Amino acid sequence: MAYNSRPVVKVKDKTFKIFKPYEEIAAAIDAVAERIEADYADKECPLFLGVLNGSFMFAAELMQRVSLESEIQFVKLASYSGTSSTGSVSNLIGLKNDIKGRHVVIVEDIVDTGGSIDHLMKTLAEHEPASVEVATLLFKPASYTKHYNIKYPAMEIPNDFILGFGLDYDELGRNLRDIYILADE
Ligand code: IMP
Ligand code: MG
Repeated sequence: MAYNSRPVVKVKDKTFKIFKPYEEIAAAIDAVAERIEADYADKECPLFLGVLNGSFMFAAELMQRVSLESEIQFVKLASYSGTSSTGSVSNLIGLKNDIKGRHVVIVEDIVDTGGSIDHLMKTLAEHEPASVEVATLLFKPASYTKHYNIKYPAMEIPNDFILGFGLDYDELGRNLRDIYILADE
């Protein structure tokens, strides 16, 4: 069945227009997969850690292109409102194996301010992995406030709201095969 890209999609009160067609996304993922294959060729069984929900599509496409012996797991960052003045707190759930001594590659949908990555990095570091790097479908460098190097961004984008290929607006639109950007209202 052919997939028909739509130039414009409406989700609830918002209108989005196509920004990155699937072909462009696929080419960007090809390039990241190639770099990862080269960098991990001499490392023992890297562990790819997909962050749900947003990374499911990127993780699937990335892993189909990586032929290294490797493991993939998914984790989730559950946010809840803390009672302290710091506001929201997030909790890492689903980490299964002991990752001590492992080469970990976090697989994210998007790195925006870097808050999630910062939290993940700190939590993973407590388990003493051999290394941790970040592969992300999208990276907003202008919005990023943290210092960890984002080694494998498939695409760098401006500071706009994005939908599709795993990314949601109010939990909708994750299934779109192309990437959309909020249209001028
Ligand atoms: P952070 O600001 O880097 O911590 O990103 C937090 C989370 O915000 C991401 O994992 C996404 O779920 C969400 N997010 C950030 N930017 C966008 C966007 O443009 N579209 C949809 N979700 C986004
Ligand atoms: Mg995310």
